[in-house]
Amino acid sequence: MMGRGQSGANSTNYQSKLVNLMFENLVLPQPDEILELMHKFRDDTRPDKLDLGVGVYKDHLGNTPIMEAVKKAEKTLWEKESTKSYVGLTGDPFFHKMMINLILGPTFDEERTAAAATPGGTGALRQGLELIKIANPNATIWLSNPTWPNHPSIVEYLQLKSSEYSYFNFKNKTVSFDAMLKDLSEANSGDIVLLHGCCHNPTGANLVQTQWEILGDFLNKKNLIPLIDIAYQGFGDGIEEDSLGVRSLVDLVPEAIIASSCSKNFGIYRERTGIIIVTSDEKKQKTINQGILAYLNRNSFSFPPDHGSKIVSIILSDAHLRKNWETELNGIRTSMQINRELLVRELSNRIGSDRFGFLSEHRGMFSLLGASHEQVQQLQAQHGVYMVSDSRMNIAALSKKTIPLLVDGIVAVGI
Ligand code: LMR
Repeated sequence: MMGRGQSGANSTNYQSKLVNLMFENLVLPQPDEILELMHKFRDDTRPDKLDLGVGVYKDHLGNTPIMEAVKKAEKTLWEKESTKSYVGLTGDPFFHKMMINLILGPTFDEERTAAAATPGGTGALRQGLELIKIANPNATIWLSNPTWPNHPSIVEYLQLKSSEYSYFNFKNKTVSFDAMLKDLSEANSGDIVLLHGCCHNPTGANLVQTQWEILGDFLNKKNLIPLIDIAYQGFGDGIEEDSLGVRSLVDLVPEAIIASSCSKNFGIYRERTGIIIVTSDEKKQKTINQGILAYLNRNSFSFPPDHGSKIVSIILSDAHLRKNWETELNGIRTSMQINRELLVRELSNRIGSDRFGFLSEHRGMFSLLGASHEQVQQLQAQHGVYMVSDSRMNIAALSKKTIPLLVDGIVAVGI
């Protein structure tokens, strides 16, 4: 018998084939399409390929730079931080305060909120759904059609029930609000409605303020609880503007869950910085909600990452750095809007029709181009243009230089 560490064809101590092995029961999960696309793009050796897949901002050189405000905050942190010891199961309360202020506004009653730092926006969503599973395991989670693929994936993983509500009119590329309310009228008291706080992913079509207010009343009357995913605050109409819908909705309902991400608006993707905020009607509920969030974190990963949340807290609490950050973020938003307008103009010049005009009405990182799966495949194979198979394009990855490449592809493929 061979011992451990000895080399050879059978360098193990066990006799595997005499028992049924546990891992042999596993099947490879379906890969996440967005991440698969990211790897496929990396392996493509064509020099003028174009990645419009994963939602990452790119400047005109194709880079995703670190924001200046982030660099400065990191410097301050490096100079001032004196320990790397644990913070707390729900992270730093000062980070909660800064984020609640950013999302819900400075006058929101903090006594109504419980919060926990999480690894990114996905971590926040996961904890939100875990919380729902504890509080009301029979609730149905209503998802917009279409939505970010990770929404149904986590819901399914947690074995929660789900249903779809109409959201997007695929023909005229706007929100089909009446159909949305009609579908949601089928929901039962206590069900959850997953909403995109701004910059709907993947459509780019968003509710307007009056619709948020109507929706708030509707949810309140039917006792439906919103789970709001806000991952792109500042990418739509403005930092403040993008949270106005969420603010009015949360004011109109006694309970809500908000999952927010700092990945995009602070550009700290890999730092995994997010927050879950739970609002409740009664102040005494805050203590219980806070305890449950701590329990959920403890059982998932114990302490949340702290580096990114410290960066965000430093920026948001320093008037000068905050201005810096706002200017940079406003610059990113403006560049996306310019991309949208240039793309619409180029397309209209080339095809002599304004049927892509909807692209300049949409807001945020994404829009659905309206191409078939085959056309998306052709764009990739023949033109090196990568987008998600539902034809979601990352507008924030375009530039004046690359827009003609995309337009050439769209025209050649005949979309
Ligand atoms: C996206 O939708 O591309 C981003 O939110 C990144 C991700 O994790 O899918």
